[in-house]
Amino acid sequence: MAIEAWFMEENNEDKRLPHHRSPKEFVSISKLAELGVLYWNLNPNDYENDKELQKIRESRGYNYMDFLDLCPERMENYEEKLNNFFTEHIHADEEIRYCLEGSGYFDVRDKDDRWIRIWIKEGDMIVLPAGIYHRFTLDTGNYVKLMRLFVGEPVWAAYNRPQEDHPSRKGYVRSLTEKVGVSIEAH
Ligand SMILES: [Fe+2]
Repeated sequence: MAIEAWFMEENNEDKRLPHHRSPKEFVSISKLAELGVLYWNLNPNDYENDKELQKIRESRGYNYMDFLDLCPERMENYEEKLNNFFTEHIHADEEIRYCLEGSGYFDVRDKDDRWIRIWIKEGDMIVLPAGIYHRFTLDTGNYVKLMRLFVGEPVWAAYNRPQEDHPSRKGYVRSLTEKVGVSIEAH
Protein backbone atom coordinates (compact mmCIF):
# COMPACT_ATOMS: atom_id res chain seq x y z
CA MET A 1 0.00 0.00 0.00
CA ALA A 2 1.21 3.45 -0.85
CA ILE A 3 1.99 5.91 1.88
CA GLU A 4 -0.75 8.33 2.90
CA ALA A 5 -0.18 12.04 3.37
CA TRP A 6 -2.61 14.93 3.79
CA PHE A 7 -2.89 18.62 4.59
CA MET A 8 -3.46 19.08 8.30
CA GLU A 9 -6.23 20.81 10.10
CA GLU A 10 -4.48 22.77 12.82
CA ASN A 11 -6.25 22.69 16.17
CA ASN A 12 -5.48 21.88 19.78
CA GLU A 13 -6.68 18.30 19.71
CA ASP A 14 -4.35 15.44 20.67
CA LYS A 15 -1.36 15.45 18.29
CA ARG A 16 -1.69 11.67 17.91
CA LEU A 17 -5.02 12.06 16.06
CA PRO A 18 -4.96 12.26 12.21
CA HIS A 19 -5.99 15.96 12.01
CA HIS A 20 -7.60 15.65 8.59
CA ARG A 21 -9.14 18.73 7.01
CA SER A 22 -12.81 18.60 6.15
CA PRO A 23 -13.14 17.50 3.40
CA LYS A 24 -9.92 15.46 3.43
CA GLU A 25 -7.08 16.80 1.24
CA PHE A 26 -4.57 14.12 0.36
CA VAL A 27 -1.05 14.82 -0.90
CA SER A 28 0.57 12.62 -3.56
CA ILE A 29 4.03 11.08 -3.44
CA SER A 30 5.07 13.25 -6.39
CA LYS A 31 4.02 16.35 -4.44
CA LEU A 32 6.20 15.14 -1.55
CA ALA A 33 9.05 14.56 -4.02
CA GLU A 34 8.79 18.23 -5.08
CA LEU A 35 9.59 19.08 -1.46
CA GLY A 36 12.59 16.74 -1.57
CA VAL A 37 10.91 14.04 0.52
CA LEU A 38 11.76 10.55 -0.75
CA TYR A 39 9.77 7.39 -0.17
CA TRP A 40 10.18 3.63 -0.57
CA ASN A 41 8.02 0.70 0.47
CA LEU A 42 10.20 -2.22 1.60
CA ASN A 43 9.74 -5.60 3.27
CA PRO A 44 10.09 -4.93 7.02
CA ASN A 45 10.35 -8.66 7.82
CA ASP A 46 13.52 -9.08 5.79
CA TYR A 47 15.53 -5.93 6.50
CA GLU A 48 18.66 -7.97 7.27
CA ASN A 49 18.83 -9.50 3.78
CA ASP A 50 16.82 -7.01 1.78
CA LYS A 51 18.66 -6.33 -1.48
CA GLU A 52 16.54 -3.26 -2.22
CA LEU A 53 17.45 -1.70 1.12
CA GLN A 54 21.11 -2.56 0.52
CA LYS A 55 20.96 -0.87 -2.87
CA ILE A 56 19.44 2.30 -1.40
CA ARG A 57 22.03 2.35 1.38
CA GLU A 58 24.92 1.89 -1.05
CA SER A 59 23.75 4.42 -3.60
CA ARG A 60 23.04 7.10 -0.99
CA GLY A 61 25.96 6.34 1.29
CA TYR A 62 23.89 5.35 4.35
CA ASN A 63 26.58 3.39 6.15
CA TYR A 64 25.34 4.05 9.71
CA MET A 65 22.29 2.27 11.11
CA ASP A 66 20.58 1.83 14.47
CA PHE A 67 17.12 1.23 15.90
CA LEU A 68 14.74 3.35 17.90
CA ASP A 69 11.90 1.78 19.86
CA LEU A 70 9.32 4.32 20.95
CA CYS A 71 6.63 3.27 23.39
CA PRO A 72 5.58 4.55 26.83
CA GLU A 73 6.61 1.36 28.66
CA ARG A 74 10.15 1.16 27.34
CA MET A 75 11.20 4.79 27.46
CA GLU A 76 12.11 7.14 30.24
CA ASN A 77 10.63 10.64 29.94
CA TYR A 78 8.40 9.41 27.14
CA GLU A 79 6.09 12.44 27.06
CA GLU A 80 9.01 14.87 27.27
CA LYS A 81 10.84 13.16 24.40
CA LEU A 82 7.70 13.08 22.34
CA ASN A 83 7.20 16.78 22.90
CA ASN A 84 10.77 17.41 21.71
CA PHE A 85 10.18 15.39 18.55
CA PHE A 86 7.02 17.43 18.00
CA THR A 87 8.79 20.78 18.24
CA GLU A 88 9.24 22.16 14.73
CA HIS A 89 12.92 21.88 13.71
CA ILE A 90 15.47 21.28 10.97
CA HIS A 91 18.69 19.27 10.73
CA ALA A 92 21.90 19.95 8.86
CA ASP A 93 21.59 16.48 7.31
CA GLU A 94 18.90 14.22 5.91
CA GLU A 95 16.56 12.51 8.38
CA ILE A 96 16.20 8.91 7.20
CA ARG A 97 13.67 6.66 8.89
CA TYR A 98 12.48 3.17 8.04
CA CYS A 99 9.40 1.95 9.93
CA LEU A 100 9.77 -1.70 10.94
CA GLU A 101 6.83 -1.99 13.34
CA GLY A 102 3.96 0.22 14.47
CA SER A 103 3.29 3.62 12.92
CA GLY A 104 3.64 7.36 13.38
CA TYR A 105 3.35 10.78 11.77
CA PHE A 106 6.05 12.90 10.19
CA ASP A 107 4.76 16.42 9.58
CA VAL A 108 6.58 18.56 7.01
CA ARG A 109 6.01 22.13 5.84
CA ASP A 110 5.19 22.66 2.18
CA LYS A 111 6.34 25.64 0.08
CA ASP A 112 3.47 27.76 1.41
CA ASP A 113 4.26 26.82 5.01
CA ARG A 114 1.28 24.46 5.35
CA TRP A 115 1.66 21.31 7.42
CA ILE A 116 1.54 18.02 5.52
CA ARG A 117 1.07 14.95 7.71
CA ILE A 118 2.82 11.80 6.43
CA TRP A 119 1.61 8.54 7.98
CA ILE A 120 4.37 5.98 8.07
CA LYS A 121 3.60 2.33 8.74
CA GLU A 122 5.48 -0.97 8.62
CA GLY A 123 7.62 -1.09 5.48
CA ASP A 124 7.63 2.67 4.82
CA MET A 125 10.98 4.36 4.49
CA ILE A 126 11.24 8.11 4.11
CA VAL A 127 14.01 10.63 3.71
CA LEU A 128 13.47 14.23 4.79
CA PRO A 129 15.96 16.60 3.14
CA ALA A 130 18.34 18.71 5.23
CA GLY A 131 16.78 22.06 6.07
CA ILE A 132 13.08 21.11 5.78
CA TYR A 133 10.96 22.17 8.76
CA HIS A 134 9.40 19.06 10.29
CA ARG A 135 8.28 17.28 13.46
CA PHE A 136 7.30 13.76 14.52
CA THR A 137 4.70 12.15 16.72
CA LEU A 138 3.34 8.70 17.39
CA ASP A 139 -0.27 8.07 16.41
CA THR A 140 -2.92 6.60 18.71
CA GLY A 141 -1.27 3.14 18.36
CA ASN A 142 1.46 4.57 20.66
CA TYR A 143 4.21 2.39 19.26
CA VAL A 144 6.83 2.59 16.55
CA LYS A 145 10.09 0.78 15.85
CA LEU A 146 12.26 2.79 13.48
CA MET A 147 15.53 2.09 11.74
CA ARG A 148 17.64 5.25 11.64
CA LEU A 149 20.16 5.61 8.84
CA PHE A 150 22.88 8.18 8.35
CA VAL A 151 25.87 9.06 6.17
CA GLY A 152 28.96 8.63 8.36
CA GLU A 153 28.97 9.43 12.08
CA PRO A 154 25.43 10.36 13.09
CA VAL A 155 24.59 13.89 14.20
CA TRP A 156 21.13 14.11 15.74
CA ALA A 157 21.26 17.85 16.54
CA ALA A 158 17.94 19.58 15.94
CA TYR A 159 17.60 23.33 15.36
CA ASN A 160 14.23 24.68 16.33
CA ARG A 161 12.43 27.16 14.11
CA PRO A 162 13.17 29.94 13.22
CA GLN A 163 16.38 28.99 11.33
CA GLU A 164 16.19 31.14 8.21
CA ASP A 165 19.91 31.94 8.38
CA HIS A 166 21.06 28.36 8.92
CA PRO A 167 23.13 27.23 5.90
CA SER A 168 21.11 24.03 5.44
CA ARG A 169 17.84 25.99 5.59
CA LYS A 170 19.15 28.44 2.99
CA GLY A 171 20.33 25.54 0.83
CA TYR A 172 16.93 23.87 1.10
CA VAL A 173 15.00 27.02 0.20
CA ARG A 174 17.35 27.54 -2.76
CA SER A 175 16.77 23.95 -3.93
CA LEU A 176 13.00 24.54 -3.91
CA THR A 177 13.37 27.66 -6.04
CA GLU A 178 15.65 25.87 -8.47
CA LYS A 179 13.17 22.99 -8.78
CA VAL A 180 10.37 25.44 -9.58
CA GLY A 181 12.66 26.98 -12.22
CA VAL A 182 13.24 23.59 -13.82
CA SER A 183 9.56 22.72 -13.99
CA ILE A 184 8.69 26.07 -15.58
CA GLU A 185 11.38 25.56 -18.23
CA ALA A 186 10.06 22.08 -18.96
CA HIS A 187 6.61 23.36 -19.95
FE1 LIG B 1 13.99 15.66 13.01
